[in-house]
Amino acid sequence: MDAERAIKKERVMQTIKYTFQPHGDDRGQLISLEEFNDIPFRIKRVYYMYDTVPCVVRGKHAHKSLEQILICVCGSCKIKLDNGIEKKVVSLERPYEGLYIPNSMWREMYDFTPNTVLLVLASDVYDESDYIRNYEDFLRFVSE
Ligand code: TYD
Repeated sequence: MDAERAIKKERVMQTIKYTFQPHGDDRGQLISLEEFNDIPFRIKRVYYMYDTVPCVVRGKHAHKSLEQILICVCGSCKIKLDNGIEKKVVSLERPYEGLYIPNSMWREMYDFTPNTVLLVLASDVYDESDYIRNYEDFLRFVSE
């Protein structure tokens, strides 16, 4: 990440909460994200969640090697982070905020406001074998 391109970088355990630099004028706002300049990995996949349900908890998994950046491009949600030792909650409330989540980090997304769109930039293609979906397995994985 080129520090000049982010307004703010706040470290939360091994994650980073970015405030991206908007390009605003009287027509509105625009955020541009470039791999390696703004995003600290090659972006191999983009996916997004929509039609989110306020009372639902999503995620509930960790990745063995995948890195991701989460952006609530519309609406807001909370993300519970857990590295096996510490737990923290981060809110994503503005489209210029991004949360970098490294591998080996349990995450749960919840408190979605209606019509939230959660965009995810990922360092690799979808691979179910990279998921750890059982919390006890996750604790074993991070303690190895
Ligand atoms: P899931 O991992 O359950 O989503 P969440 O992270 O919110 O818990 O994914 C939902 C479904 O979508 C599941 O059947 C796997 C599939 N999926 C893909 O096919 N490709 C992808 O890139 C992702 C993230 C999920």
